[in-house]
Amino acid sequence: MPKHVLLCAPTYFDVVDAKNPYMSGNPPVDREKAMRQWQTLCSALQQSGCVVETIDPAPGLEDMVFAANQVFVGWHDGVGKFIVPSHMVHTSRQREVPFYVDWFRQRGYKIIDIDFARDHHLEGHGDLLWHPDWSRVYAGFGFRTARGGVEKFGAAMSELGIPVVSLHLVDRYCYHLDTCLCPLNNDAALIYPGAFAAESLATLRQFWQRLRELTADEAHKFMGNGIVANGNYITPYLTPHLEAMLKEEGLTPLVVDTSEFEKSGGSAFCMKAFLP
Ligand code: ARG
Repeated sequence: MPKHVLLCAPTYFDVVDAKNPYMSGNPPVDREKAMRQWQTLCSALQQSGCVVETIDPAPGLEDMVFAANQVFVGWHDGVGKFIVPSHMVHTSRQREVPFYVDWFRQRGYKIIDIDFARDHHLEGHGDLLWHPDWSRVYAGFGFRTARGGVEKFGAAMSELGIPVVSLHLVDRYCYHLDTCLCPLNNDAALIYPGAFAAESLATLRQFWQRLRELTADEAHKFMGNGIVANGNYITPYLTPHLEAMLKEEGLTPLVVDTSEFEKSGGSAFCMKAFLP
């Protein structure tokens, strides 16, 4: 079964404010270059056996290209395909959510709406990662997603019998969980330990047989923000250290330049949502 994946073209992509520490001090976005990089990412996904689906970009929504954030996408025996719409921190990003919700609604996904308090933020797959066998969800909080958002999400998932493991993030350069934890298979994940509070790191060690540790430099260059697809690991950069860890997990690196998107604090993983 090929994996289906949702992306959004960077037609209106830009950096207009500093939502995270990567977003200041860069030269302006080169939108044509961004479009070429995005197309290369789509090709890399197709080359890795994925079917690429797209949502139309909307003018004025400069971050809409980061398709990992607007909804949490799930699958459950009883409910079937479902989404949980996000409660984004930034207003411009909140405006992206209805476009994604409509896209999923039109395709028959059940919408599980959570009644969030104002500061109970939840940012989709930026902070919510499925274990590869769909047995549980890892939920990062601290910078964008709030502890209260994770609690509300956890309560909604517990009604479906889906456990949620909450993880406290402490490195502002790893402001989303998808920058410091990347499941590779059911037993192994890439991790940047420095991004987690001590108790959260201990929690993670209970759930994975092998945690392959990235250095700070690798993590801050988004090498933990890769996409695992069909034996490939799509990554923006590669070090001999990362290559060796991937090899031990039977994965082949596929390097795709995402430099324009890194000016916005995102790379490969942030630009897609896997569909069940
Ligand atoms: N500029 C975007 C923001 O700060 C980047 C989002 C990155 N997405 C992710 N899943 N980590 O909201």
